[in-house]
Amino acid sequence: KSHWAEPYKIKMVEPLRKTSREERKKLIEDAGYNTFQLKSEDVYIDLLTDSGTSAMSDRQWAGMMMGDEAYSGSRNFYHLEGVVQEYYGYKYVVPTHQGRGAEHLISRLLIRPGMYVPGNMYFTTTRLHQELAGGNFIDVITDEAHDPDSGFPFKGNIDLQKLEAIIRETGAANIAYLSLATTVNMAGGQPISLENMKQVRKLTQQHGIRIIHDMARVAENAFMIQQHEPGYADRTVASIVKEICSLTDGAVMSGKKDALVNIGGFLALNDEGLYEEAKNLVIVYEGMHTYGGLAGRDMEAMAIGITESVGEAHIAARVYQVHYLGNLLKEAGIPVLNPIGTHGVFLNARSFLPHLPQTSFPAQALTVALYEAGGVRTVERGIVSAGRNKETGDHHYPSLELVRLAIPRRVYTLSHMDVVADAIIEAYENRFSIPGLEFTLEPKYLRFFQARFKQL
Ligand code: F0G
Repeated sequence: KSHWAEPYKIKMVEPLRKTSREERKKLIEDAGYNTFQLKSEDVYIDLLTDSGTSAMSDRQWAGMMMGDEAYSGSRNFYHLEGVVQEYYGYKYVVPTHQGRGAEHLISRLLIRPGMYVPGNMYFTTTRLHQELAGGNFIDVITDEAHDPDSGFPFKGNIDLQKLEAIIRETGAANIAYLSLATTVNMAGGQPISLENMKQVRKLTQQHGIRIIHDMARVAENAFMIQQHEPGYADRTVASIVKEICSLTDGAVMSGKKDALVNIGGFLALNDEGLYEEAKNLVIVYEGMHTYGGLAGRDMEAMAIGITESVGEAHIAARVYQVHYLGNLLKEAGIPVLNPIGTHGVFLNARSFLPHLPQTSFPAQALTVALYEAGGVRTVERGIVSAGRNKETGDHHYPSLELVRLAIPRRVYTLSHMDVVADAIIEAYENRFSIPGLEFTLEPKYLRFFQARFKQL
């Protein structure tokens, strides 16, 4: 297993604070039974998200000191642009403060009211920006992705028949673009295969439909292709990443994931005309097109992070840690989504809490129980995250009712994973005493971030 070991040693540490179960019961109640509302200092092991929570390398920190904080034309922008061109192959880059800044720009540029945006499962911010621009998101992911027990290795794949049917029904002219994510977060961090991408590319090209790539975790997807897709075992992760990008027309990037930074993102494009428009629009919402809401030092750290993200030893150790936790849980008989994803382990809350109907928010209830059991902070990825249907006003009822244990990169050790597993096993043993929840406050946009609940 030596090739799975962490390819770094630790130079700086941050102390953790433990709390008692009694304290945690009070703290989570005060937080409205919403883990997003807890204070970070009250959390022992924070698996809320892998976004912006990773540890930067000494190289990245050194890069922070090289920030060129000119208002315009910063040296660090040109470094970032060069790195995006070299590692991802996209021609043009517009920095944004994070991924959703890029989602906002591309949605405004390409979506006209009434248009459709097919995609391999929704992501919360992505779909909201598509809807705010007047678009309708349509899920065209393979059926396996909706089945938490299916062990299919490429659950991020697009179902070509579903996509063809949408094109036939709406006409290609009414499709703004295909929104294609590597890996698919809401499906449990599941990769798409290159074979599927090539077929999707062929079909969409026949109809003149663009592919916009949500590339937040593209290196993790490439690693899974290297490990599991026939014909790619001898290819480097870097070369697979570049091939994935070459099958798309542009990308939205949250640098807070793969690219190992605490803040940053970009929109990447190949079409010059579209780039000119994006370059103009970014000034309105983010800032000049050579900083887009970022400091020069942030762009430098992201450029260095991108080069580190495709390192073979880095990505193998990162995914191994996630699978280590997943396998501990599986061995203990905990209902875990299959196969184990790349950025986190997802618990199947429907099986974990069979006594709770979906309208009592089982996954949200489980995040509360896990915090109480071990001070472990996780996130709901079920009906609360799915929000409401913009036409009917009723909840979306997703087939997957999940709790995500997202693992930050290079932050926790395998002993921490043991502690997390113990807390989950304890909650599982007492699962029938875990109560459901109802809203006491339901915000209009992305309700899961700020909602408050009471226990039933
Ligand atoms: N796309 C995907 C697949 C994401 O996972 C995220 C963020 C975004 C886009 C938006 O990027 O946060 O930089 O604006 N996901 C975080 C998460 C929030 O916890 O999964 P952002």
